Amino acid sequence: MSEYDVVIRNGTVATAADTMSCDIGVTDGVIATLGTHLGEGTREIDASGKLILPGGIDSHCHIEQRSSAGVICADDFYSATVAAAFGGTTTVIPFAAQHRGQSLRRVVEEYHEAADPKAVIDYAFHLIISDPTEQVMGQELPALIRDGYTSFKVYMTYDLLQLDDRQMLDILAVARREGALVMVHAENHDMIKWLAGRLLDHGLGAPRYHAVSHARLAEGEATNRAVVLSQLLDVPILLVHVSAAEAVEVIRNAQTRGLKIYGETCPQYLFLTADDIAKPGLEGAKFCCSPPPRDDAAQRAVWTGLRNGTFQVFSSDHAPYRYDASGKLPHGEKTTFKDIANGVPGIELRLPLLFSEGVQQGRLDLNAFVSLTSTNHAKLYGLYPKKGTIAVGSDADVAIWDPQRETTITAGILHDNVGYTPYEGRRLRGWPVTVISRGRIVVEDGKLAATRGSGAFLPCGLSQAARPAGVPVPELAFAAASGAALV
Ligand code: URP
Ligand code: ZN
Ligand code: ZN
Repeated sequence: MSEYDVVIRNGTVATAADTMSCDIGVTDGVIATLGTHLGEGTREIDASGKLILPGGIDSHCHIEQRSSAGVICADDFYSATVAAAFGGTTTVIPFAAQHRGQSLRRVVEEYHEAADPKAVIDYAFHLIISDPTEQVMGQELPALIRDGYTSFKVYMTYDLLQLDDRQMLDILAVARREGALVMVHAENHDMIKWLAGRLLDHGLGAPRYHAVSHARLAEGEATNRAVVLSQLLDVPILLVHVSAAEAVEVIRNAQTRGLKIYGETCPQYLFLTADDIAKPGLEGAKFCCSPPPRDDAAQRAVWTGLRNGTFQVFSSDHAPYRYDASGKLPHGEKTTFKDIANGVPGIELRLPLLFSEGVQQGRLDLNAFVSLTSTNHAKLYGLYPKKGTIAVGSDADVAIWDPQRETTITAGILHDNVGYTPYEGRRLRGWPVTVISRGRIVVEDGKLAATRGSGAFLPCGLSQAARPAGVPVPELAFAAASGAALV
């Protein structure tokens, strides 16, 4: 009888901390042994010449989600998780998105009904809070946090999602009390609306004006405001999908001052610019996301932020909309930038893009790549060390990479349901060739080996990252000394 269910031999294992030559023995879906000369496995995998990395965790993706404008994502939980797995990701954390008037508890139930029978890899959920009623804030949210939904996203823009500063403070106060993490979409709503209105008044409705209306100053201002709101209550926040150099600078400065401010960025801010949105006709709609890709200088600022630790996580913000009336172009040829569904696909290419352009080009070392794409996600969202590392006792979620494999990207080789890719024609070096989730092979030799619904729901714990820094601002300290604990 074999000693292990699976043994992976002769590979180079890299975690966020170390790179080593060792074999991995897996029993019952968990890493049982790291070492050499391991006993036999029922399944033996030879990883000679390959890298063995923790499976990626994509902690920002939109799956089977209806946008506030009523447009449904092109991917359901099957196609999205299959695409994720082919790209080396073994855990996704999409959103259970509340629309105004909805019970948050019911929203979560609906997302489970969608995900549970379809996901092929493991998943957790963040919440999106767009309607912070007394019932939601006083009862549903605290109960959901205790049930393992320990992070939630709030929006400072979009007509039907936007919260004002007072509502943001209410939500931050609940997060602080319960130990949850708040993710912030930071763009100044009124600046965007004002610019968009004027542009449309002048007949400028082409996709390129999306990037003009979502000005970089609008991102910088809102990022600064979010940081100050978080500072007022001494509660950590994560700024998601950061694109502008102005926002990177605000986050970096806040971190330098000792505030617990975290940053996330995405492939579109490294590999796309506003020139892509300016492609002829409506083609640019394929590249419209918020905040938008900007320019070479912004790309450089984002790369620097990945290198110097300003960003902890690199996620896809996969928000897949088809290039037709069901998605990007609700009014066909007459669609203006204001009505283009916002978001780009990227769940499958997130890791290959960063590996090829980051690790292979010498911009990031392998351990930083692992931190940014897996380990830090698990730590931020309370899944570590079950997920996000290769260690005895951790789930056997690994991606075996051929670091030299060259691939030319075309939509046809991808597994999502979008029909195009913003990265068409790019040549990448390095690809995950075998992907394993809890000891199960999910992708091998370019084929899917997992069945619908075989992914498991992961309740998230409370993470260290969400704990207050313990530095109250003088006014709140004074209020507390006066007998009024305001948070
Ligand atoms: O444009 C984007 N990023 N769409 C997805 C929704 C969001 O705000 O993350
Ligand atoms: Zn957002
Ligand atoms: Zn998003």
